[in-house]
Amino acid sequence: MIPMVARSVRGIMAARATLPGPVVLVPTMGALHDGHRVLLRRGRQICGRKGSLVVSVFVNPLQFEAGADLDRYPRDLAADLGVCAQEDVDLVFAPLATQMYPAAQVIMIDPGPPGNELEGAFRPGFFNGVLTVVLKILNLVRPDAAVFGEKDAQQLFLVRRMVADLNLAVEIEAVPTAREPDGVAASSRNIYLSAEDRVTARALSRALLAGAAVAGQGRAAVMAAAAAVLDVAGQADPPLVLDYLELVEQGTFTPAAPGYAGPAVLLVAGTVGKTRLIDNTPLTLRAAPAAGETP
Ligand code: PAJ
Repeated sequence: MIPMVARSVRGIMAARATLPGPVVLVPTMGALHDGHRVLLRRGRQICGRKGSLVVSVFVNPLQFEAGADLDRYPRDLAADLGVCAQEDVDLVFAPLATQMYPAAQVIMIDPGPPGNELEGAFRPGFFNGVLTVVLKILNLVRPDAAVFGEKDAQQLFLVRRMVADLNLAVEIEAVPTAREPDGVAASSRNIYLSAEDRVTARALSRALLAGAAVAGQGRAAVMAAAAAVLDVAGQADPPLVLDYLELVEQGTFTPAAPGYAGPAVLLVAGTVGKTRLIDNTPLTLRAAPAAGETP
């Protein structure tokens, strides 16, 4: 089925009024890949055959730093519409930047302290831009549910917090990270990796697997196992230049306290060649065994 396409604020409001509910939204920046497809299929499951699946495709300038890869970000609306047609999308909202930001945005969403850590520390203002555009798109599409990937775990955490803290009337659904056969998480930026970069890039997912394998032995064991893999990748050619490796408690997204046991997320970010990559895995942390005790 060929989806309807709305390219303006008026257009999306008019098209939205025609959609049978429930309405499910999948927000994206386009360059749709297999990871996005998993979100689209989950979206269709939630809205059912009679409901409506909406995809937004918008490369949001507010979440790119000046001089960062905004111009370099892959854009191919024709290809994205092809994917949407295959995945049975009803409506694509692909606004022009002048529609989303007719004047400089003055009012911005502040992600609070968790927005300044991890990705926020390396990309100042990033989550202000993400949350602001997500809220604008939610307000325009007014979906019953919106689907996000665990691939961007901090983004997912902050979107959920925004929905709770601002009493937004939308359900947030999370989908596990889709991976390519070599373990690398599917990402629009993977097309920038050379064959050599790609070999080094595998270290991210391998480090996460190594850490998750020892989750029963506590925080220090997880960090050491993951760091060992990343250290080797740091010596490779091309090297992985690590930004961070962190283990956070799932409920607060703050570093797992030494005695913490429960759901956690192990996160890694770094650059290979010119490409910045992020990845993470959920795991269930057990308290570290006491000294002298066998795990
Ligand atoms: P984008 O990077 O296009 O991702 C859109 C959605 O797809 C996000 O929820 C992201 O977590 C999910 N996704 C990407 N790769 C995935 C993978 N390998 N497995 C599962 N899900 C994956 O994230 C954004 O766009 C933007 O920040 C946005 C929320 C659209 C706001 O501009």
